[in-house]
Amino acid sequence: MNTTARKSPAFDVETVRAEFPILHQEVNGQPLVYLDSAATSQKPNMVIDAISDYYRGYNANVHRAAHYLADKATCAFEDARIKVADFIGSTTPEQVIWTRGTTESINLVSNSWGGTHLTEGDRVLVPALEHHSNIVPWQMVAARCGARVEEIPVTDVGEVDLDALANMLDNRVRLVACGHISNALGTVNPVEEIVELGHGVGAMVLIDGAQAVAHAPINVEALGCDFYAFSGHKMFGPTGIGVLWGKRELLEAMPPWQGGGEMIETVAFAGTTYQGLPYRFEAGTPDIAGAIGLGAAVDFLNSLDRSAVNTHEQDLLNYAVERSENVEGLVRYGRSHVNAGVLSFLLSGTHAADVGTLLDQQGIAVRTGHHCAQPLMAQYQVPGTVRASFALYNTRAEVDRLFEGLEKVRSLLF
Ligand code: ALA
Repeated sequence: MNTTARKSPAFDVETVRAEFPILHQEVNGQPLVYLDSAATSQKPNMVIDAISDYYRGYNANVHRAAHYLADKATCAFEDARIKVADFIGSTTPEQVIWTRGTTESINLVSNSWGGTHLTEGDRVLVPALEHHSNIVPWQMVAARCGARVEEIPVTDVGEVDLDALANMLDNRVRLVACGHISNALGTVNPVEEIVELGHGVGAMVLIDGAQAVAHAPINVEALGCDFYAFSGHKMFGPTGIGVLWGKRELLEAMPPWQGGGEMIETVAFAGTTYQGLPYRFEAGTPDIAGAIGLGAAVDFLNSLDRSAVNTHEQDLLNYAVERSENVEGLVRYGRSHVNAGVLSFLLSGTHAADVGTLLDQQGIAVRTGHHCAQPLMAQYQVPGTVRASFALYNTRAEVDRLFEGLEKVRSLLF
């Protein structure tokens, strides 16, 4: 078996790994193999330093004061917004709303847009493989206004059934909410076609890009969706910061969903007026360090050849799939022909949690369980899976460690 890392001339994985200090440690007496980047990616020095520099050098609140530190913090904070806007192809930075993450971004849309546009009998369509954060917010708003949340069928290989979606569409469908890449299976959904289908009946289309932003360049304008949500922490940035991007005219017509400082223009007991974009959706002191850290994560990704990164990640996944086919009793979930970053599986006769614990004892970090996708697990009639997820800093040697680890698990459990 060829275990040599295929090096692209434009992408040297060892150089990249050197930028991630956390990877260079032992866990349970073995060099750490981190295969849980779909839960959260590790952070490069650039991101850690940007956050530390802010707290050490210019911590101050933004948009509020006349002093030097506040000005420096405000410039860095707004600069990060511009970087993110450029990174996702947004026409303007005002369409980039800072949130706590993908979950909050979707809750913003469900409360603000959903709360004003959905009425009794309206339909919201969501694929059966979605993360709970793209199901539950719609159920909550639907319960308040009498709308219905309906599941778009997913095929056995883990793909959104586009024919079924086309058959479900009618003029009561107000919104289609779909992940770009499935966190549980790695399926890359055909979001362009889903946008087109949704728009064909006048529905809005929201794309949950949490798993996608680290893996492929995104251009929200070219994609044509109405809303795009993602988190900083899955793209090498910090936790607690994320983005909602929306079409300008939609965002401008949406009411604020949280009230407080920052989002107002004037406040009086007789009535309050609100700021324009993006601040009308950013009540309270924002996660300033998080935004600056996310800007640094964008710088990090922009410093790489994204196409070479993609080739490297696909090579890792293909190699992992190839190796998995030689493991007795391994059942793989998610066999879409377009897959990114995730190997989801069970070893027959074992519990996912036991496999995860025994891998951890060998220094190998994976996630086990339902991956916040219980409807999908119900479809597969399993309580959960073992999920190894890959990022640009992983190597073929680490894939080998995973499969050596699984052999050991088998010998311990059988
Ligand atoms: N949504 C994250 C995951 O897939 C936490 O693990």
